[in-house]
Amino acid sequence: CGIVGYVGPQDAAPILLEGLGRLEYRGYDSAGLALAGKGGLKVRKVSGRVADLAADLPARFKGSPGIGHTRWATHGEPSTENAHPHTDTAGRIAVVHNGIIENADELRAKLTADGVEFASQTDTEAVAHLVAAAFAAGAVDLEQAVRQALRQVVGAYGLAVVDAEHPDRVVVARNGSPVLLGVGEKEMFVASDVAALIGYTRQVVYLDDGELATVTAGGYRTFTLDDRAVAKSPSWIDWDVVGAEIGDHAHYLVKEIEEQPRTIERALKGRIDERFTTAHLGGLNMSVREAREFRRVKILGCGSACYAGELGAQLIEDLARVPASAEAASEFRYRNPVVEPDTLYVAVSQSGETIDTLAAVQELQRKGGRVIGIVNVVGSTIARQVDGGIYLHAGPEMSVAATKSFTSTVTAFALLALHLGRIRDLSPEQGRRIIAGLNALPGQITEILGQSDAIAEVAKEIVDSRGMMFVGRRRGWPVAREGAQKLKEISYIHAEAYPCAELKHGPLALISPEMPTVAVVPDDDLLEKNTSTLSEIKARKGPVIAVAHRELPADLADRTLVIPRNEPELDPILLSVPLQILAYHAAVALERDVDKPRNLAKSVTVE
Ligand code: G6P
Repeated sequence: CGIVGYVGPQDAAPILLEGLGRLEYRGYDSAGLALAGKGGLKVRKVSGRVADLAADLPARFKGSPGIGHTRWATHGEPSTENAHPHTDTAGRIAVVHNGIIENADELRAKLTADGVEFASQTDTEAVAHLVAAAFAAGAVDLEQAVRQALRQVVGAYGLAVVDAEHPDRVVVARNGSPVLLGVGEKEMFVASDVAALIGYTRQVVYLDDGELATVTAGGYRTFTLDDRAVAKSPSWIDWDVVGAEIGDHAHYLVKEIEEQPRTIERALKGRIDERFTTAHLGGLNMSVREAREFRRVKILGCGSACYAGELGAQLIEDLARVPASAEAASEFRYRNPVVEPDTLYVAVSQSGETIDTLAAVQELQRKGGRVIGIVNVVGSTIARQVDGGIYLHAGPEMSVAATKSFTSTVTAFALLALHLGRIRDLSPEQGRRIIAGLNALPGQITEILGQSDAIAEVAKEIVDSRGMMFVGRRRGWPVAREGAQKLKEISYIHAEAYPCAELKHGPLALISPEMPTVAVVPDDDLLEKNTSTLSEIKARKGPVIAVAHRELPADLADRTLVIPRNEPELDPILLSVPLQILAYHAAVALERDVDKPRNLAKSVTVE
């Protein structure tokens, strides 16, 4: 799941460990390092955390170049043997790899027939043997050997290779899984994610699919699989280093929840035009005429990005009056979707690397679809693939569970909806109303954050539940889905989300004193409908925690989390915040690994 590499005058191991530590947030189950300096190849791996790997390193584990990896198991269970780096039989070549090699079984059978004995069950190990075989067949240098090896590989990879016989270089390759180079002073870095480079350099070179690079202390050369040179110049990362530091917070998650007043300000910054009561979104690359022409909006994303997209679809329908819907990118890509020329497609991804979302974008573009992105990580694969978009500027999100990226994504959709609305039917008055609402969000979130202790008390009441129900209607429904998602992923309490009216079509059978319900009930035109749902639940003795704009009577809710009121279209942003805090406190009370929940990864770059 995470790749790092170093070549230069310093000892690689501490730098690689720090880089891996910065990638820990992505989720993983094993870790390893390889050094290829003088004295041959040295490899160390553990099933467990980066800290376990650091503790396991012998004093003589010194030198450069080196590569490191954190692995999230796909082929083969999590174990020391299956951890990367993987080596050839002679112990000369070491490889770290993200992605999936689709013809791994064939390659393994062929190599085994040639007498190679495999030490692991991974698909990656085949690459190390293929590189060694390329040398045996006469390859003169590491880049040639890697190119020959990769020509036999079908599948997705981001990989880094070192060779004890070429102890001055790391060769990297990218096809479907990110790899970037960090440019230092007489030293170079390699990573799968810019977060690993924070603290070392801000100059990075992104590889594109089908590209390789030879990285030495003095610089880099980029080329393709058939050895055509490609010119690449570094870009500058302007992320705030502090953004990725945990400071004195107990967890990244709570830090990121608390950052939301500022992250929303950053999403809005420079984009609101008070005079013409609209939003400026320069990154869209879309003329007014183009923006008027499409007749539908289709939003794609995975997990929380998809739920944020569901709120985005409602914002676009409400403010721009364009039919809009959201769908899981993973479903969309596999059902041979009808791609229409007059539909605007929006890909939503915090990381910009989620493989299902990326594949949906590529499929759309193959069929001529116009795709814009709503992405947080600048320069990420999806950001570079789309035809334009909106960056969140929320800073690094380190905790696996999305929080600030969720609220910033919905804010970005509000800007998009305002922009499209003002080009179409939305009146200046209505534009002014939405702008005032957007500007009020940061202060109102600060108010909600002030209720954290009270919400912690409510969390204590739910931790022993058999399960939880989350309900909402219309805009409250995606909020309920996201609330249930947060609770289950970090506290491991089972939670289901249902639209209020669907409750009586099945899940009402689950309601009992052991199954509390979190009800999202804003004070809007549907309040009456929602209160009748609450009565149905209370009649079955189900405890109710309401998130509402005013205290609800005891016959409707046992607890009400009262939050400030904004405009109805923007209320979902505020309604989702107490649910983040509730999930956080439940996870803490249950002593869960809040930032790195079991079985999950921050960005899923494999299918
Ligand atoms: C993973 C994470 C989720 C996230 C989803 C989409 O499954 O665990 O929290 O919502 O990926 O990630 P993206 O980076 O594309 O927004």
